[in-house]
Amino acid sequence: MNILVIGGAGYIGSHVTREFLDNGHNCTVYDNLSSGLRQNLYKEALFIHGDILDFPCLLDVMTNTSFDALIHLAAFKAAGESMLNPGKYARNNIMGTINILNAACQGGIKNIVFSSSAAVYGEPQYLPIDEKHPTVPENFYGFTKLDIERLLEWYDKLKNIRFAALRYFNAAGYDIDSRIKGLEQNPANLIPIIMETAIGIRKEMQVFGNDYDTTDGTCIRDYIHVNDLAKGHVSALDYIIKNDKSITINLGSEQGFSVTQVLETARKITGKPIPAKTVERRSGDPAKLTASCSLASELLGWKARYSDMETLIKTSWEAYKIAINS
Ligand code: UFG
Repeated sequence: MNILVIGGAGYIGSHVTREFLDNGHNCTVYDNLSSGLRQNLYKEALFIHGDILDFPCLLDVMTNTSFDALIHLAAFKAAGESMLNPGKYARNNIMGTINILNAACQGGIKNIVFSSSAAVYGEPQYLPIDEKHPTVPENFYGFTKLDIERLLEWYDKLKNIRFAALRYFNAAGYDIDSRIKGLEQNPANLIPIIMETAIGIRKEMQVFGNDYDTTDGTCIRDYIHVNDLAKGHVSALDYIIKNDKSITINLGSEQGFSVTQVLETARKITGKPIPAKTVERRSGDPAKLTASCSLASELLGWKARYSDMETLIKTSWEAYKIAINS
């Protein structure tokens, strides 16, 4: 199939593009390189340097080539920043998606896989979180993802578009075969911050609170390996095409690891001390988040394979070592 990967030069997008290429598809990457990297582009995939706010450019791309599907991963994703600068998130994430949807309709693209987020759920009311859990986002970033899911539902009804909204839990790790060379720049997430500390870019890392109601007092999250996520995109696209039906599903590992457990595993695997200081809680952090992925397993036959903590840390550490030594 001909696949347009919007945001395909980014951290998750580059893994997703690799997976589609490996499955024999033709990929065109559309990216403005604001956080995506040229290093993450593949010679087998066409590259278009474009912005999702540039409607004429999107329209040109989508009407000049006949795409069977598009994968939409282009978004700002820092929850904290979204609370300080909601306009930036509304414009890029929501307006950008409206442009994509309208261009897709004009270009006759009927299938969309969208990167949604567990941030749509907000504070958990029960665990593990399944797709029926109420959606009450705690931050504006999560709101933009939920809003886009609703837009997709309407475009499904009114424009006959089929979509898969994939609600990622905590995406982590790097390509299992070390094929992706570009490291995420200015990361805000736990594992890359631990890696930057291990490699010496940071002097120490901060643990945001150790007085939560969990076994060791630090927050528990469900970490999902990017290669698992990437496979989920391929399976989800197959599903919506074969069944002519849209889906909204969680992608997680169904396992919970505390910040301390992640840190200890990283110290063991890297052999580095990774200095850490416990500081105040970060606002908006629930104590525990874990996913139920029964729906992904039932509909897609998908299950996380690389999301044990050792593999998450090992593949991250490999990527950091390669990047630093090159
Ligand atoms: N943490 C630290 N120190 C840090 C960074 C994070 O202690 O320097 C802690 C956080 O407090 C949290 C855990 O590590 O308890 C994970 O934090 P991240 O910032 O890595 O991830 P979040 O759980 O806050 O959010 C991530 C994505 C969201 C997504 C969510 C889904 O960033 O976009 O997972 O579960 F919605």
